[in-house]
Amino acid sequence: MCGIFAYTGNTGKEAGKVLLDGLLSLEYRGYDSAGIFMPDAGSVKSPGAVAELRKKVPQDFKGKSGIAHLRWATHGEPTEVNAHPHADSSGDIWVVHNGIIENFKELKHALEKKGHTFKSTTDTEVLAHLVEEHLKTEKSFEKAALAALNEVRGTYGIALQYKKEPDRIIAARMGSPIVLGLGDGEHFIASDPSPILPHTKKVVFLEDGEVAVISPDGHSIFKLDATKVKREVTEIDWDAEQAQKGGYEHFMLKEIMEGPEVVENSLRGRLIPEKGLAKLGGLESVAKQLDTIDRIIIVACGTAAYAGQAGEYMFEAETGIPVEVEIGSEFRYKKPVINERTAVLAITQSGETLDTLEAIREGKRRGALTLGIVNTVGSTIARETDAGVYNHAGPEISVASTKAFLSQLTVLALLAMFLGRRRGMSEEKGREIAKALKELPDKIRTVLEQREKIEALAKKYVHSRDFLYIGRKYNFAVAFEGAIKLKELSYIHAEGCGAGEMKHGPIAMIDENFPTMALAPKDSMYEKMISNIHEIKARKGPVIAIATEGDEEIAKLVDDVIYVPETLEMLSPILNVVPLQLFAYYVAKEKGFNVDRPRNLAKSVTVE
Ligand code: AGP
Ligand code: GLU
Repeated sequence: MCGIFAYTGNTGKEAGKVLLDGLLSLEYRGYDSAGIFMPDAGSVKSPGAVAELRKKVPQDFKGKSGIAHLRWATHGEPTEVNAHPHADSSGDIWVVHNGIIENFKELKHALEKKGHTFKSTTDTEVLAHLVEEHLKTEKSFEKAALAALNEVRGTYGIALQYKKEPDRIIAARMGSPIVLGLGDGEHFIASDPSPILPHTKKVVFLEDGEVAVISPDGHSIFKLDATKVKREVTEIDWDAEQAQKGGYEHFMLKEIMEGPEVVENSLRGRLIPEKGLAKLGGLESVAKQLDTIDRIIIVACGTAAYAGQAGEYMFEAETGIPVEVEIGSEFRYKKPVINERTAVLAITQSGETLDTLEAIREGKRRGALTLGIVNTVGSTIARETDAGVYNHAGPEISVASTKAFLSQLTVLALLAMFLGRRRGMSEEKGREIAKALKELPDKIRTVLEQREKIEALAKKYVHSRDFLYIGRKYNFAVAFEGAIKLKELSYIHAEGCGAGEMKHGPIAMIDENFPTMALAPKDSMYEKMISNIHEIKARKGPVIAIATEGDEEIAKLVDDVIYVPETLEMLSPILNVVPLQLFAYYVAKEKGFNVDRPRNLAKSVTVE
């Protein structure tokens, strides 16, 4: 949701430059303001992006350590005074924070009664004053920080710096990600590895309830009760380059074009085609327990939830296990009926979506087996679920999720095979799915070769005010995913609709100014989809069809067609969604919008 970056070093590097450059690589997480503090130089804050902050940083803003922040406001307007870092009354203690301090009002009230005055309307500022209060009685800054954090309820990923101990910085995490970077004579704290990677690939992921202290030459980790913690060092194999645009104009186009490789990587080492088997090492430890599962609840948000919707159809058709998809933010409040034979499966690219994380925690509390399909290695959901499968889709920087969606569908198909073959799916059926999965990357490349045609379509429909996306069965989910892509990138009102549902209301909207994207591959629902298209044409509604290569009949019926290769019905969402991703991309580009960072959105929604 926002980005934290802190640095301390004795390498001679200019800390201000390290910090400001690092904030740039965190901008994709979403922001509305930015700020920096260095003990040797003071603090500078600004609404807007890092570029705005840089303009305000004076030439002589020098130092060897500091903390910096990109804010995505939850409490208090996105103003300069509310931007982080925030200080205590003395101006000696500074904090940057990602998350929500749920009991900040009572803490603030108690502090005001002790004479503290506050400058901002944020929840975060109480942290600095709370540490200041405890520093009056505790013997060290660390102990004062621990004492303060033990009073806090809510979620936080923080970096804390004390002016009188400028080379040490404290980090703490509860519900919002924090990773340490271990360099030679320099150490880092960040919300994710991207700002650390240009300096070191050695990182340590903090767990919830852990506190760390970094100095130029080392780090230590302990729990809130001060007991020491040993955490393994992870070597991140992404270099900073990989997260760059690779020659494309936007991260989003790069990530759509990576689709074939992403499916290949998601499949790598996970198929035994000759036996029709899927090999998912991350599930081996719970394979026996999975054999006892009689229900799966998929929990996810946004695009990930639409992947789950397609997964529901795959699992029910191929494994016979009843499945339901629950939106993370609803599941945790509905008192779900769960027992030890229920599996709660989280699907999440970031692994940090708080609504999905809390849904997993709810499932765990109620005795379920918790699983994850996660892209971000070492993320909270990856570490809190009992077992899971990493997507191996590589970093997805653009806010709109594209390649991760393809990977999620691919892993869901692997999981359907994995479970199905343990529950009666024939070897022959397994071999058929394995073969079709291996053919997907080249089929995606065929779709991507139509980029120019899709761009031309985007220009034709760029002035639409509304769009209906319709599909059935496996492409029901694709209709909703196509709609969210257009909405979140071009701000056009677009809605997904089960094609069979049109006659129950939505068709009233159709006229010559209300185009429809119809998912109509040659599958078991084809005839029904053709009828739906007739209903729309009878009301003069323009129709773009996503159709199967060679289907000339549909071209006579609709206004525009994008052809995709044939594949197994259960895998067709992986091909059918690619033209919709490109269409949304080109419409937004044609409108001149910020494709990689659409307004109001964040890449990782780590607040409720
Ligand atoms: C996707 O285009 C959206 N940006 C958003 O819906 C996203 O899918 C959702 O926030 C879930 O994120 P996650 O996969 O990281 O949990
Ligand atoms: N709740 C804090 C604020 O509103 C932090 C928000 C964030 O995670 O950026 O300032």
